[in-house]
Amino acid sequence: MSLLSPWRTDFPALAILEAQGQTYLDSAATAQKPQALIDALTGYYTCGTANVHRAQHQPAERATRAFEDARIKVARWLNASCPTEIVFTRGATEALNLLAYGLEHLIEAGDEIVVSAVEHHANLLPWQQLARRRDAQLIVLPLDARGLIDMDAAANLIGRRTRLLAVSQLSNVIGTWQPLTDLLPMAKAQGALTVVDGAQGVVHGRHDMQALACDFYVLSSHKLYGPEGVGALYGRGESLLKLKHWQFGGEMVRVADFHHAEFHAAPLGFEAGTPPIGGVIGLGATLDYLSKLDATAVSGHEQALHMKLRAGLTVRDGVKLLGEPQVALASFTVEGIHHGDLAHLLTEQGMAVRSGTHCAQPLLKTLGVEGATRVSLGLYNDGLDLERFFDALDRALDMLR
Ligand code: ALA
Repeated sequence: MSLLSPWRTDFPALAILEAQGQTYLDSAATAQKPQALIDALTGYYTCGTANVHRAQHQPAERATRAFEDARIKVARWLNASCPTEIVFTRGATEALNLLAYGLEHLIEAGDEIVVSAVEHHANLLPWQQLARRRDAQLIVLPLDARGLIDMDAAANLIGRRTRLLAVSQLSNVIGTWQPLTDLLPMAKAQGALTVVDGAQGVVHGRHDMQALACDFYVLSSHKLYGPEGVGALYGRGESLLKLKHWQFGGEMVRVADFHHAEFHAAPLGFEAGTPPIGGVIGLGATLDYLSKLDATAVSGHEQALHMKLRAGLTVRDGVKLLGEPQVALASFTVEGIHHGDLAHLLTEQGMAVRSGTHCAQPLLKTLGVEGATRVSLGLYNDGLDLERFFDALDRALDMLR
């Protein structure tokens, strides 16, 4: 079954990579870009750049309008209730650090911050460091054998000392959707704030912020087929009011004196300095492109590819999946073979897969593995990519055995 992707030709890099003998299977690290984004960036940079929110001249007005249009597009993509609930950041990592600093004043000694064992460093270290700064406790929710947060344990560990719950929606290592619809209300019932790391989840399916009922949700543009250096923080209106300003500089300030200043509310108050204007406009163009695709066809294609990936890995001797991946990616180890040696032989055969600890060292330790190989898929991948990968894997395993 070749499972061709009707969208592959919208991404010019795929043909170029293919001509170079490269099979790109690392979209969870960063995705290739559609022509629509490349055109938007070229248009912005060739027609005259200008800074946003600062000047009255025509190029600035044009840039500001395009920048604010992108905010509306992100709000629509997430079904936020209002564009002012979207703060642009320089990435998902910066958005999570913004939260850890912006909410610091609400955390007191002895309070509990709850994360899970599946977290990427970006959704672990900001909270770990916040807990250390405030003498709070970091509580780690364990996983079950499938790689899902263990809900019985969560019910015991989330309690009246819980001030904040921060969890990923979709694991970048195991590929499991976390049970947010049960977990978030559990934290809410204790009066805790809830943060969802949507860096992977936002790429696979549409998520409705009003239905999800978290306080904050972060995403990264470059994994969502958009430019690098841009992320977004969604914050429910009343939750954004809880944040203290954290980065200070141009355009986030309302009035400034030598010894005193007053700051704008979100979003502008949290967008200090010149933002990544071209990147934000490019993200808007990427969302325009993605919005025109048949969402059911995209998720059907991704699911079919994922099943083929899982099935192909499962039938191979000695291959062990990490958890039970549900979408878009699978990580695995091979009995008796070091992931570094396998990576070397796969790379030599043009397979662009990721190998190592995937920015989640504590998770890998919990799973009792030193490292793993990860294959991750984008909407442009097809069955032939996977067939090339399995041929390369078989050759590599033959050599290593
Ligand atoms: N978070 C990215 C990954 O999972 C870099 O590969």
